[in-house]
Amino acid sequence: MNNRIAITDLAAKKKRGEKIVMFTVYDYPTARLVDEAGVDISFIGDTLGMVVLGYDSTLPVTMDDILHHTKAVARGTQHAHVLADMPFMSYQVSPEDALRNAGRLLQEGGAQSVKLEGGIQVADTVRRIVDAGIPVMGHLGLTPQSVNQLGGYKIQGKTPKAAVKLLNDAVTLEQAGAYAIVLECVPVHLANAITERVNVPTIGIGAGAGCDGQVQVFHDLLGLYQDFLPKHARRYAQVGDTIREAVRAYAKDVRAGRFPTQAESFIMDTQLFSEPSEAAPRRVASRKRRQTA
Ligand code: KIV
Repeated sequence: MNNRIAITDLAAKKKRGEKIVMFTVYDYPTARLVDEAGVDISFIGDTLGMVVLGYDSTLPVTMDDILHHTKAVARGTQHAHVLADMPFMSYQVSPEDALRNAGRLLQEGGAQSVKLEGGIQVADTVRRIVDAGIPVMGHLGLTPQSVNQLGGYKIQGKTPKAAVKLLNDAVTLEQAGAYAIVLECVPVHLANAITERVNVPTIGIGAGAGCDGQVQVFHDLLGLYQDFLPKHARRYAQVGDTIREAVRAYAKDVRAGRFPTQAESFIMDTQLFSEPSEAAPRRVASRKRRQTA
């Protein structure tokens, strides 16, 4: 058993009025950094497909992709709750199929809970997974896996009818056993109404400050995905620029013969070359990082 944040801790945070901090993370080194920074939920989102794998939507992301990255994040996470996204077509076929895939994310991936998109239409699936002891986070509003049905990445719940539907979806998800609900790109007043109506935490992204917590995409906040910055995100660092400059400096040094210097090289006794013997080493053992540290 690990000492990570549990869903009961997240529920207690809502009760105490403490904001929940959720952040996407996709690999081991950044999982460690994000964990050390003290986030509450480290989330392997299917945005992986766009910001890490270079697809133009989340639809091509597979169970194998999410599993691979969840394992890495789980290895790098001591404190945060590890939440894995259920990719497109991993839960839509049948509740049984969904349960099997959700189980894999915990059993093989090392996650503590899973997230899936949709409202009333996924309620039976949520119930089936939760009944098996796997906590589920819901996701309403802009649900990117349905981008083709939504007609693009647009704000949801803007008309009274759409707002009532989202409110009913949220209540249904809570009744089905979801332990929290992401609200993506919905108007502030609607997000506030849902947050007041349900007892489980709401986690907003483009849903205003009234939600019980916030989630953002790592690459957006850190300036690593530079194609565009969503309106709901804020740049906290320009790590992309730092990386580009560092690699440029490295390339310049290599081309100018300034890297490596003696400090980055390994020296051997040159006498070994003048007195060849059976015992002379055939090669310098420099391959393994462990041996050179
Ligand atoms: O996959 C993801 O990163 C998400 C967040 C945008 C909520 O679902």
